[in-house]
Amino acid sequence: MPSPAAPLHDPTETLLGVFDSGLGGLSVLSALHDTLPANPKLYVADSAHAPYGERSDAFVTERTLKIGEHLVDAGAGLIVVACNTATAVAVAALRERWPGVPVVGVEPAIKPAVKASPTGRIGVMATPMTLRSQKFERLVEAHGAQATIVRQPCPGLAGQIERGDLDSPELRAMIDGFCEPLRAARVDTVVLGCTHYPFVSRHIQAAMGPQVRLIDTAWPVARQTARLLGMDPDLIQATERLGSVRLQTTGDVAHLREVASLWLSFPCEVGAAPVM
Ligand code: DGL
Repeated sequence: MPSPAAPLHDPTETLLGVFDSGLGGLSVLSALHDTLPANPKLYVADSAHAPYGERSDAFVTERTLKIGEHLVDAGAGLIVVACNTATAVAVAALRERWPGVPVVGVEPAIKPAVKASPTGRIGVMATPMTLRSQKFERLVEAHGAQATIVRQPCPGLAGQIERGDLDSPELRAMIDGFCEPLRAARVDTVVLGCTHYPFVSRHIQAAMGPQVRLIDTAWPVARQTARLLGMDPDLIQATERLGSVRLQTTGDVAHLREVASLWLSFPCEVGAAPVM
């Protein structure tokens, strides 16, 4: 009897191309590295152009396509858009340009929040661009129609985190100001609708109170990436073969190196992204 054909391609060898406007997507990269440790990863931080959330749709689409091209040229077999803002306005353009490359986007976790919320009163913290996008409105229509969704744009917050500032009094005051309307609306669940925000989740939790549940999308995104590679996220074994992780930035390499050493728990090679 012939033995079953060996798979043509080992999915753990697929290079994962990951990008964000800057450093926030490192929260997604962490979950990806934990879930898919063997896969090599190339992360691009577009820090020279961050924050995206207060730019125009056309600008973010142009940046997304330029970075997509760089990742595809570098051999990425799958792209993770580790940015809610770029997903909201540009994921369709990315899929259209490279129909053969699977793309995983990041969206505010409205559906899990509705499931988790006892009262159906849910706050969403995100960039102004994410919250005014049609994609976000469709998400609310599809999954949040029976709930009260309180939208809280947080202009300036991603920029503050981008500077590596996770603890200053200004940052905490800014977070408290954004949480105030959510407290007044008595939400019991808050969706972190920007990949920068998990890095300051302890301040958001402190401002909202311990009874409020915060929901982040990094883990579901990593599991979805595994599924798109044809792997069952629950069956992936710990491996001795750790894939390389390369980080590139359009901004300051020294700053990325410092932030990566503080925010990530695994070694990475850090360098400059090509001019694009
Ligand atoms: N980290 C991003 C997001 O998830 C973008 C923040 C920004 O650049 O404004 O939306």
